[in-house]
Amino acid sequence: MKEIDANKNAWNTLSKDHYHHFKERLKKEDTLLNEHILKELGDISSKTLLHLQCNTGADTLSLARLGLSFVTGVDLSDQNIYYANQLKDDFQMNQVQFIESNVLTLSDIHQETYDIVFTSEGVLGWLPDLKAWAKVIFEHLNKGGFFYIYDSHPFFHMLDQEALIQRRFQHKYDYFDQNADYDEAIGGYASETKYAGNYWWNHKISDILNALIEAGLTIEYMHEFDTLFWNNGGMTEVKKGLYQYPEFKNKMPFSYSIKAIKK
Ligand SMILES: C[S@@+](CC[C@H](N)C(=O)[O-])C[C@H]1O[C@@H](n2cnc3c(N)ncnc32)[C@H](O)[C@@H]1O
Repeated sequence: MKEIDANKNAWNTLSKDHYHHFKERLKKEDTLLNEHILKELGDISSKTLLHLQCNTGADTLSLARLGLSFVTGVDLSDQNIYYANQLKDDFQMNQVQFIESNVLTLSDIHQETYDIVFTSEGVLGWLPDLKAWAKVIFEHLNKGGFFYIYDSHPFFHMLDQEALIQRRFQHKYDYFDQNADYDEAIGGYASETKYAGNYWWNHKISDILNALIEAGLTIEYMHEFDTLFWNNGGMTEVKKGLYQYPEFKNKMPFSYSIKAIKK
């Protein structure tokens, strides 16, 4: 699929910078996971975990540091996996492995099951097919295991971001539009912005929930937050790694989480 190929190429341009950025942070910080994720995951020590869309593995290592017995990180970008393996060696995390794969076709090359399937912070927009995504999650969960996602909110992505930075609500993208949005640039959160064309889908909340339900999972909760995991421009850091427009506190959702169980 041309969009997936373009996205792979675009993410590859960021890998080296991300590796260096996150390596320095992992030397100084116990975890790169934000407070929402840490609280909602709870005690996951001794569990096994599959981390979807793991980038260069920094969050995978943060998850492993919570005492997991084994964790597998998966990502589309071959360069991300190359640098994720370097990061694993830098921190001597032998309980971690990385696999290069499109998450939507992971079951073709990897069938192991896990106690937890986890994905977070900038993930669903890169995937064209949530039904295939949810099926992969179901297939990789042990019975009694759970799936957890924390990501940016589709309501936030509907808005004109330049206007939002000026503290104005201005609709720009249709909530029900299922077509991909093309962007000529990528990155900027852990590297310079790179000019590499990429495609992004804004999935509505009902599609996310229904994909998980139709795959056979039982939703335990969905939470919505008025904070975001990057500074969108002029935001205040209210907790480590969580940003807010004080003017929009309690007024609109910027991110959400979902926990679902395989019964
Ligand atoms: C914003 S990053 C996620 C970062 C994540 N918070 C982390 O560091 O663990 C999005 C990731 O999704 C990956 N990605 C995009 N499309 C994918 C696909 N179809 N299958 C697997 N990974 C994909 C990209 O390569 C990129 O590393």
